[in-house]
Amino acid sequence: MKSVGIDAIEIWTGNLELDLAETFAPAMGEDPGKYTKGLGLLRSSFPDAYEDIVTMGANAAHRLMERKGLEPDDIGRIDVATESAFDNSKPVSTYIAGCLEEVLDGDFHHANKGERKFACVAGTQSVDDAYNWIRAGRNRGRSALVVATDTALYARGDPGEATQGAGAVAMLVSEDPDLVELSAEQGYGSADETDFLKPNQQFPSVDGKRSVQVYLARMREALEDFESVAGAIHPDDFELIPFHTPFPGMVRKAALLGFRHAIRDTEIEDELAAEIGRQPRREEVESDEAYLDAIKEYTDKLKDTQAYLDWYEDTIEPTLAIAREVGNWYTGSVHVARASGLWQLAKEGHDLTGKRLLVGSYGSGAQAEIHAETIQPGWREEIEALEIESRLEDRYSLTFEEYEHVHDVHNHDKETEAEEFTTPDSEFAFDGWGRMGERKYRYVE
Ligand code: COA
Repeated sequence: MKSVGIDAIEIWTGNLELDLAETFAPAMGEDPGKYTKGLGLLRSSFPDAYEDIVTMGANAAHRLMERKGLEPDDIGRIDVATESAFDNSKPVSTYIAGCLEEVLDGDFHHANKGERKFACVAGTQSVDDAYNWIRAGRNRGRSALVVATDTALYARGDPGEATQGAGAVAMLVSEDPDLVELSAEQGYGSADETDFLKPNQQFPSVDGKRSVQVYLARMREALEDFESVAGAIHPDDFELIPFHTPFPGMVRKAALLGFRHAIRDTEIEDELAAEIGRQPRREEVESDEAYLDAIKEYTDKLKDTQAYLDWYEDTIEPTLAIAREVGNWYTGSVHVARASGLWQLAKEGHDLTGKRLLVGSYGSGAQAEIHAETIQPGWREEIEALEIESRLEDRYSLTFEEYEHVHDVHNHDKETEAEEFTTPDSEFAFDGWGRMGERKYRYVE
């Protein structure tokens, strides 16, 4: 069977940042701990006035192509995943291809281009489409370029405002990949839900509390579906578990439920029995209500056990390091989590070749997807090439008034004279509007 997976990855953060504890919390009259401890976020990334989903996506893709020494002829597909699209017909992938053609030799005229939509899970679905295209043998030896790009802005005053973010992840999906090979096995949890949506509007309508519950319910379904094809999982099977990370506090909830599920009927449950008892079983109690109460009580105790805390520290915490610095990137978020985990373990000197990841993606509306990945020998070189630290440090830090201005500049319903806080440097920049309402871009040396 062909080995197919992610060969390379590049991350482009919006060029601005907002400090949640120092700048956002005082202006909102909130305790900084709500953001730093409760949600688990330190800073959000924002696009400067000349940045948008096209520039961020094109910049990530350009870097990736340059670093891998690729030409347009090497690419047979360009798929963009986004929930921030500004056109109901022309896909963002055509804009990104146009940008890349400005600076690369050759063109993408024989590459299939498209745009994927299913809230935050669309990035993973695009990777999936690329995987299937290669496995079907329709790629003619070429790779797919997948770009997950979003400006995750909420209406001012919405509880989601604290979780905002903006950035793009470009991924090269190829045969014999250097970074991770994807498993053929997948699990899905999918249902018609109304937790987060944008019915032809820029900022989302969100039922935040419900979206947390729906995330957990669909993720659980996806895990059961994954186990039905891949076999029961054990906590020690996976080096890292990158989840979709709208904010790290969400992953804290998902990880605890996942750990409880995975230790059932294992030696870990046996070893913990003396300390916190065994997990309640439905047949042991009279009603569903009593069962839920018993499960909640067990889970509360489980979360303070050393076994759980150690597993969380090793398997989950490394995946959250970048999210804490950038906020929610919607379609890119789970791919940021994978890169974050590998980056942290590379810094600690781990040898991960042949080790496995379990990847949990989620999109509101709602669908979760779970698959496994095997880390490839070229992983360290790939991850070290990302230079994540300097990219995060180079962002311009906004005052609250500047943040308000930036939010207005990117608000489609407001006419705001744009002030720029940074100067584009070796990157694509928005260059005004064309005669049919199209956006124009230029590469700034
Ligand atoms: N110190 C430490 N923790 C604090 C705190 C403080 N001073 N103040 C609050 N917290 C904790 C809360 O206990 C809560 O944690 P918990 O859920 O583990 O109990 C967390 O911080 C968030 O506080 P909460 O009052 O629930 O925040 P909120 O009502 O303003 O909004 C969301 C939370 C998730 C609903 C909101 O951010 C949102 O709508 N986000 C967008 C949708 C989203 O991302 N959904 C996720 C699925 S995709």
